[in-house]
Amino acid sequence: MKKLISVAAAGALLIGLAGCAGGGTAAGGTSEGPKALDELVVGFAQVGAESGWRTANTKDIQAAFKDADIELKFSDAQQKQENQIKAIRSYIQQGVDYIAFSPVVETGWDAVLNEAKAAGIPVVLTDRAVDSKDDSLYVTFLGSDFIEEGKKAGEWVVDEFADADKVNIVQLEGTTGAAPAIDRAEGFAEVIGADDKFEIVASQTGDFTRAGGKQVMEAMLKSNPDIDLVYAHNDDMGLGAIEAIEAAGLVPGKDIKIVTVDAVHDGMQALADGKINFIVECSPLLGKQLVDVISTLNDGGTPEKRIVTEETTFTQEQAVEALPDRQY
Ligand code: AHR
Repeated sequence: MKKLISVAAAGALLIGLAGCAGGGTAAGGTSEGPKALDELVVGFAQVGAESGWRTANTKDIQAAFKDADIELKFSDAQQKQENQIKAIRSYIQQGVDYIAFSPVVETGWDAVLNEAKAAGIPVVLTDRAVDSKDDSLYVTFLGSDFIEEGKKAGEWVVDEFADADKVNIVQLEGTTGAAPAIDRAEGFAEVIGADDKFEIVASQTGDFTRAGGKQVMEAMLKSNPDIDLVYAHNDDMGLGAIEAIEAAGLVPGKDIKIVTVDAVHDGMQALADGKINFIVECSPLLGKQLVDVISTLNDGGTPEKRIVTEETTFTQEQAVEALPDRQY
């Protein structure tokens, strides 16, 4: 019996030591109690700089950490999962207190997240989710409900084309395998799928970039003569599509209607100018919420497992009103 107790005690000590390796515990906080904020170090692995949304998101996160006086190590993965995995491994090696990242794609994270867990470094997901059976690999996921965004886009389309007999839609998808691309397609398809007059005649990735949206739209215009609507998974691809539509001698917003997601400044301007018809907002302002999560963890608290960002939608008239006060 004595032997059993001492084996259990040694095991507990080992688990405890493993939990201290990064200065934190797997659940958050530190074994020595809260640190002063200016002693904390957070590693953030960003997706890239593919869109206006991403640029606004990076700026907001960097500003929030500066305001809170928390050191932020920042890396840009240039939309490549292998770069993000390298950055996370480097943060683990450096022994940061917390890691936050916005996964380029949904799958393939278990190995590196298990390494962070073994090092006792809590991981916070921002903006995009991971597809893993083990939700102990991250403390919380903070970001939008992308399925809901797709549904809002679909609902606008159903209303807008209430009197039409047939609606030919082309879809500009986000990065293949990324949560917002998968979920925005799913939410949209669910809503328009209720009426078979809506047909997605072409759907292809533009990788969330303006250049990608333009290139894909050029090809789609050539092979699909009767496009009624473009559904772009973000503003940047919608803006690229506008260039392609104008180059083809058509009027965006009139000859071909456009619905996008994000509501960044350039998208809102195009909406106010009548070139986009409707935008579903996806807020990039996650910095303050991320700092709050880190502070809660540092104080030994437990943030909600899922923190959903509040968002709205914009018509052309609403964009004209909102533009002067838009932060990004
Ligand atoms: O993950 C959020 C998405 O990523 C934004 O909607 C898009 O613009 C960005 O690239």
